[in-house]
Amino acid sequence: MANYDEPLTFRHGATVKNRFVQPPMLTSNGKDGYATQETIDYYNAHSKSGGMIITEYMYVSENGGPALTWKRGREQLAVYDDKFIPQLTKVATAIKHSGNKAIMQIAHTGREANYRAIQGKPVYAPSALDLSFLPYKIHELSDEQIKDIISDFGKATKRSIDAGFDGVEIHGANHYLIQQFVSAFSNRRDDHWGGSLEKRFNFPLAVVESVMNTVKKYAPKDFIVGYRISPEEIHGTNIGYTWHESTKLIDAITKQFELDYIHLSMPHYDAKPGDAMLLDRDIADSKYKDSNKPFATLFKPYLNGAKEIIVGGINSKAKAESAIALADLIAVGRENIIDPLFAEKLMHNDEKDIVTELSIEQVNKNHMTQGLIDNYSSENTGISIPGEENIRSLHNGFGGWSEIHYPKNSETKE
Ligand SMILES: Cc1cc2nc3c(=O)[nH]c(=O)nc-3n(C[C@H](O)[C@H](O)[C@H](O)COP(=O)(O)O)c2cc1C
Repeated sequence: MANYDEPLTFRHGATVKNRFVQPPMLTSNGKDGYATQETIDYYNAHSKSGGMIITEYMYVSENGGPALTWKRGREQLAVYDDKFIPQLTKVATAIKHSGNKAIMQIAHTGREANYRAIQGKPVYAPSALDLSFLPYKIHELSDEQIKDIISDFGKATKRSIDAGFDGVEIHGANHYLIQQFVSAFSNRRDDHWGGSLEKRFNFPLAVVESVMNTVKKYAPKDFIVGYRISPEEIHGTNIGYTWHESTKLIDAITKQFELDYIHLSMPHYDAKPGDAMLLDRDIADSKYKDSNKPFATLFKPYLNGAKEIIVGGINSKAKAESAIALADLIAVGRENIIDPLFAEKLMHNDEKDIVTELSIEQVNKNHMTQGLIDNYSSENTGISIPGEENIRSLHNGFGGWSEIHYPKNSETKE
């Protein structure tokens, strides 16, 4: 068992100074896909949050975002064009200035690209399902569009290299496009990209191949490549996949490609079968609770040389110690929004100085973006943060995820 202050070297040679990771977290502050100065200031203030800081998810294709957007100027960041490279270079430089690694999370948000619907543009997914929880239409991706997206993941990787990032994380989790292809609930195709479990793996495998080919061609030898996955997709009676299936996917990916790490996206670092849904809203049938071991342990036999990152609810010394006993690296999300020096304080035995509640003082000190402020100062915040009620007065009236307005257009439902 390692301590959280020990360095770790990945299989391609990159070394991180400690075992803390800042996981990807949307800052909701891009403008037309570009990182703004506020975004750069935020990442600058988080450069000590871990040995490795993973950016929020950036969309790789023009039709792959933005997602979770309620207003222009409060958008997800994009990496689908070379024009974004100068601003992204500033993001990478801000993250790296304390000597830690900068990883870009790359994604296609598929059916979650809500801002396209707001603008009257088509939203795409593996299958054109009419989903009650989405107020807009979904269009089925053509074979040609799917191949373009696979190639876009490679092109985005090249841009991350050009912008000075130390690695990329492929976003295969949290219901975005890659997971939509893996999910039997979301993917009803019967071509090369769906129809059986093996065929539902074809899209993620092709994306990883596209990224790895680009890395081989253009990146420094020690460039880091990770893959993030939700260990299961179970919503009541809607079953996307079980952990038995997701471990098969990870086994297939890590046998074919030398990934540096696998990142398990979970609400709790010790989540077990039946309780891995991010928002904790859906209770799985007891038949899916078929092991008492944490996913961190259940995934280990399938990593084939990749390191393992776990995440979820780590905000104290005790939790950090029990998490690092389970995996190689531990990611600290919301606690880093509150106190980006959490890891530093733990490593210097200053845990009494750790701040665990959001306040106006912390918002200012940590350069929390107005997009994050608007989200966390609104009434329904999605994944809530302790102390969010302390910043209600900072709300500038532009909503948060719960206040998204869908105008009537050809892409929204009646
Ligand atoms: C504001 C916010 C934005 C998030 N954005 C992303 C994202 O861009 N990509 C992603 O994979 N996960 C995202 N997540 C999930 C986090 O990476 C993490 O898995 C989750 O917050 C649980 O960790 P925690 O309990 O330490 O916060 C986000 C979470 C929060 C709170």
